[in-house]
Amino acid sequence: MKHSFLVVVFCCSIFYSFTAFSQDDADDVIKYRQNMMKTISMHYKSLKLLSAGRITQPDQWLPQAQGLNNMAKMTTTAFPEESDFGETDAKESIWENKPDFNKKAEALLKFSGKLVSVIEQGKQQQAAELLREISQSCKNCHKKYREK
Ligand code: HEC
Repeated sequence: MKHSFLVVVFCCSIFYSFTAFSQDDADDVIKYRQNMMKTISMHYKSLKLLSAGRITQPDQWLPQAQGLNNMAKMTTTAFPEESDFGETDAKESIWENKPDFNKKAEALLKFSGKLVSVIEQGKQQQAAELLREISQSCKNCHKKYREK
């Protein structure tokens, strides 16, 4: 008796952990991922100013890059099923091509991770090159999966 109760509790908690996010309001899920994108964008633009030498704050390259990389870690979870309705510019094709979409998200993750490590090593020239790769990874995804 006691044992079977524990089994039920265990199974329910597994089910619950798999459905995390789906209990959230769809409009909030959309707002949340748009905030994530805006944060990514702000880190990227700040890094461009640093890299262009227009802002002289050598200690701030790393936290900006880490911020970008941390946000990039969350992008694949920001587009759960059923979040294609509402005030969103996300195209429905995301959910028809999830593996390809995730590959484009992983490109950003990979380049932003490399950016963190070259900055840690003080390699500014390589950082500038990676920023170009990063910009390309934004465009590759937006071109196919974002309205306008
Ligand atoms: C894997 C795909 C993907 C990658 C990579 C990606 N984006 Fe996005 N981005 C989207 C999608 C899809 C939307 C639309 C989200 C929505 O409206 O629900 C979006 C929206 C945005 C927005 C608008 C947010 C708002 O306020 O509505 C900005 C700004 C943005 N992205 C910047 C960037 C930048 C900068 C990069 C690269 C550093 C980037 N994105 C990388 C898919 C991506």
